Amino acid sequence: MASICVAGGTGQVGREVARRAVAEGHKVTSLSRRVPPLGSEKRHDDVTYVAGDVTTGEGLATALAGADVVIDCLEGQFGKAQRKFADGGARLLALAHRAGVGRAVALSIINCDLSTYPYYVSKARKERRYSESPLETVVVRATQFHGLVAMIFASGSKVRLIPVFKGASFQTISPVDVAKALLDAALESPAAERHRLRTVVGPEVLTMRQMAESWKAVTGARGRIVEVPLPGAMGDFLRAGNNLIPGQNDGLETFVSWLEKRRESL
Ligand SMILES: NC(=O)c1ccc[n+]([C@@H]2O[C@H](COP(=O)([O-])OP(=O)(O)OC[C@H]3O[C@@H](n4cnc5c(N)ncnc54)[C@H](OP(=O)(O)O)[C@@H]3O)[C@@H](O)[C@H]2O)c1
Repeated sequence: MASICVAGGTGQVGREVARRAVAEGHKVTSLSRRVPPLGSEKRHDDVTYVAGDVTTGEGLATALAGADVVIDCLEGQFGKAQRKFADGGARLLALAHRAGVGRAVALSIINCDLSTYPYYVSKARKERRYSESPLETVVVRATQFHGLVAMIFASGSKVRLIPVFKGASFQTISPVDVAKALLDAALESPAAERHRLRTVVGPEVLTMRQMAESWKAVTGARGRIVEVPLPGAMGDFLRAGNNLIPGQNDGLETFVSWLEKRRESL
């Protein structure tokens, strides 16, 4: 049995990591700014929830005490949170080192270092903090999640237009499959290299149009599928196919099976 601290253990991926780790018999502590109330879908029995903030350091020593490994599933999407994202990771690593944690695993985004899109730049910056840490570290880069593309379709369908970005394909993955990859990395035997980089990708490459058609079929939503150019760094990233590794497939849950499970809530 390992003692695992999941930073961001209440998030989309973090709570799947916590759920799986507890099911496998590990001791799990979750760190997040807010502790989910009893009965919340973000909360699991047998997980200890600690309130803390990686941007200030508050609560980190408590969450990391006695941990063998920390799994960083944190997010910092916009504005100040995005600007502070890498420093938060560095603070977590420094306090993990001080607490005697043996290994740190971080979730990142596939090929984020190839883009000038500011959100991806913040991910690449955090990856560098991991590669520079004295701890044993593993960065697991995932492809986009099924929910991200579904959310784009859902927003467009409010005005009866379902956007597909010209020239874009995706290899989306479910948070459950990402969580498995993170936990595997956290528990694997120690390796010779101090820092390792992994990728975990979805089970199939689909054009965004194919995904939009599936999304319409499963949700029954009305709206016209329209091709739109996506300008800027994110558009360049997608058109170059930097979000794909076509020869690799890891995740078990396809986009359609993920949609079907959530048919009522989409
Ligand atoms: N979405 C995608 O398609 C995709 C693809 C590949 C990789 N990723 C990466 O996967 C990671 C996790 O994504 P996610 O969607 O699971 O994130 P999420 O659902 O937004 O969860 C983020 C977690 O971090 C916690 N958190 C945020 N700021 C914090 C802070 N300052 N201190 C302590 N805890 C903090 C949140 O709880 P509180 O808010 O209560 O603090 C929550 O538990 C992200 O780094 C993302 O870039 C995403």
